[in-house]
Amino acid sequence: IKDLTGKSLAVQAGTDGKGIILQLGGNAENPEGYQLKVTSDQVVISGPTEAGVFYGIQTLRKSIPVAQGVDIALPAVEINDYPRFSYRGAHLDVSRHFFDKEFIKKQMDALAYYKLNRLHLHLTDAAGWRIEIKKYPRLTEFAAWREFPTWKEWWNNGRRYEEEGSKDAHGGYYTQDDIRELVAYAQERFITVIPEIEMPAHSEEVLTAYPELSCTHEPYKQADFCVGNEKTFEFLENVLTEVMELFPSEYIHIGGDEAGKASWPTCKLCQARMKKEGLKDVNELQSYLIHRIEVFLNAHGRKLLGWDEILEGGLAPNATVMSWRGEGGGIEAAKQKHDVIMSPNTYLYFDYYQSKDVEQEPEAIGGYLPLERVYSYEPMPASLTPEEQKYIKGVQANLWTEYIPTFSQVEYMELPRMAALADIQWTNPEHKDYQDFLQRLVRMVKIYDCLLYTSPSPRDKRQS
Ligand code: ACM
Repeated sequence: IKDLTGKSLAVQAGTDGKGIILQLGGNAENPEGYQLKVTSDQVVISGPTEAGVFYGIQTLRKSIPVAQGVDIALPAVEINDYPRFSYRGAHLDVSRHFFDKEFIKKQMDALAYYKLNRLHLHLTDAAGWRIEIKKYPRLTEFAAWREFPTWKEWWNNGRRYEEEGSKDAHGGYYTQDDIRELVAYAQERFITVIPEIEMPAHSEEVLTAYPELSCTHEPYKQADFCVGNEKTFEFLENVLTEVMELFPSEYIHIGGDEAGKASWPTCKLCQARMKKEGLKDVNELQSYLIHRIEVFLNAHGRKLLGWDEILEGGLAPNATVMSWRGEGGGIEAAKQKHDVIMSPNTYLYFDYYQSKDVEQEPEAIGGYLPLERVYSYEPMPASLTPEEQKYIKGVQANLWTEYIPTFSQVEYMELPRMAALADIQWTNPEHKDYQDFLQRLVRMVKIYDCLLYTSPSPRDKRQS
């Protein structure tokens, strides 16, 4: 409230007298719900959980004027509010460009303001490995660093990695202490951080640091792990063990998307694996890997989440599917009685352009996803029966950062589209109204400058 109005609040115990009262209690049916009641003396925010009360506070923050020194008047209201979906996510790719932990905290502030409760971090990809793993130091001494500062220069100029500390090294990673700090910061905001460790593809950086995990054992040659080699499973399980120690999230995201599978048909170990396990094609070989990793995660009390390609070759028995190539994968998974997170590129890829006047926009990956289209998304497929619809657990937007090197550009691509995302995740469709949303947006945009935008990063300064 101080940032928005310049006024400070005194904190004291008790529920008497004038003030803003926060209390636990109320309808336990909706654990993340809250009641916000404004009377002449008090603003009372109550909820069955601390998360519910926290969301009530966010609604209050959105309701006060953004102006220094003015008196604040609120209408007498009683709001009873709860979310439509239990999984309300946003994804950020920190591999293509590395964003430091202070910026990730700023992102978490934005998620919290919009009542999102999952931050999916894409921690590993060809462009850089971003998390310290004690057992495999080359991942951060080498695979976290590359020759050029921007993804585009690196991609178009040989895609080389560099030793940490060398003069051409660009990139970075989160230490395990950084991760613990981020997880704690997220928990204070009722956000679960979901780590993504990519497999079997998008792994050029790993396979250059540890070439023995690829089919040909040559660095700079392959994107996919060798699925025939037991060393691959030893590596992935050791990495996931450290990841699970750091992240309390029930879901561990294992990627699974866009595997080229090019080296598997001619790899002796992969072919031997297929023969031994009776796998009829390379899709079933990928599925074999995902199944095994699921068994490992489940044995540690965690659940496997993967991109919709994990449907190909047969879904692992307990897997949750994140539907990104449109909604088809999510619909298919729900029919197979698997949980689904909808994040279709057709509505929720925030790396797409938001206007048609692309000359006036920062370069983006393509696409066209204006605010109104995001707002219009209805994640519950009408083609599913009510029983099947129960498997749609949530909604997430994704921000891939190939063309997004700076903090300010992340924020430009996300806000206000994240506001529209939040309405999809929280609000029942009969209460959605785009014109009303636009009215509310006028105030929200002022709040961005006070609360949500970060200060320019060193990369911002270098570009300008
Ligand atoms: C993805 O966009 N490759 C999941």
